[in-house]
Amino acid sequence: MPLLLALVTLALLACGLAFDLGQWTRCVPIPPQMGVCRDLGYTEMRLPNLLGHGSLEAVPSSEDWRPLLDAGCHAQARDFLCALIAPMCLDTFVQPCHSLCVAVRDSCAPVLACQGHAWPEALDCDRFPAQEEMCLPPVPKYDSPFSKGLPQPACQHCPTVEELPSLRSVLDALCLNDFAVKAKLHRRRSPWKETEFEVEGRVEFVRQGPLLPYDTQSLLRRWLLLNLSCARLLVRPGRAQLYLLTGGARPDGSLALARLFPWHKRDANIAHAARKWKHHKC
Ligand SMILES: *[C@@H]1O[C@H](CO)[C@@H](O)[C@H](O)[C@H]1NC(C)=O
Repeated sequence: MPLLLALVTLALLACGLAFDLGQWTRCVPIPPQMGVCRDLGYTEMRLPNLLGHGSLEAVPSSEDWRPLLDAGCHAQARDFLCALIAPMCLDTFVQPCHSLCVAVRDSCAPVLACQGHAWPEALDCDRFPAQEEMCLPPVPKYDSPFSKGLPQPACQHCPTVEELPSLRSVLDALCLNDFAVKAKLHRRRSPWKETEFEVEGRVEFVRQGPLLPYDTQSLLRRWLLLNLSCARLLVRPGRAQLYLLTGGARPDGSLALARLFPWHKRDANIAHAARKWKHHKC
C-alpha cells in the first residue's frame, strides 16, 4: 500500500519529477509566520511544498490567507491551504482531492472576489487528483444542507452610517428594512494572529425578519470580514461600539446591511424608536 500510494503520488506531482522524498525534500518546523497552519495537529512541514516553494522564505506568509479563512467561507479551507503550503511531513505527499478543491473554491472564491482577488492560478482545481482515496477528501458533514441553507452575508457597497438620527429617521429605517439588530462591534488594535473583527456579546433583535437567532452573531462577523476596508471605516479599533444595524435580504438570499446607527448612550432617539417600533404603523 505505501508503495502504491507513493507511486500514485509521484505520478500526480505536477512537475512529474520521480524523486526520492527523503533525498530531495526536507522537513522543517512550521515557522511562526505560518501560524494559520500551526494548530492543525502537526509541527513539521515538508519543503518544497506542493506549490513548489523550496525554502521558507519563498512561502507566502499564511497570514495573507487569514482574512479569507476568518471570513469562514468553508470549514475545510484551512486544511486545504495548509496541505499545499505546509504539507505534513509524511513519507509521501497527500494532495487535496479535486472535489475538496472545488468545494472550497465554490464557497471561497466569492469571498476572495469581494476582497478584490481572483481565485489564484496556483489553486486551479484541475491540478488536483480525482481519486478520492489517494488524496484529502471533502468531509461530507461540513456541507450538510443545514449549513448550506444558512443566509450568507452580501458583498456590497459600504452601508451609510447616520450619527445622532432623529426618531423619524430610525423608525423609517425599521419600516423600510427586513431586519434590525442591536450589536456590539469590536475591532482589535493588533489583529496579528487574531481575527480583526468580532461581534461582542449577545445580538438583540429589534426586528428579526429573515435572521436566524443562533446564526446572527456569526453572520454579522462574516459580513464584517467580507469587506475589511468597509468594516474598518465603520468600526474604530479599541473599545467595542454599539450599533443599531438595519438591512434586508437580496433576491439571491444573501443579507445586506442598509443603514447603521451608532447607538451612543446619550442618544435617546434610537432607544425610543426601538421601544415604539412594536406599535408603530409604517
Ligand atoms: C468594500 O468597501 C469599500 C470601502 O467602503 C468600497 O469602496 C468597496 O466598493 C467595497 N467592496 C465591494 C466589493 O463592494
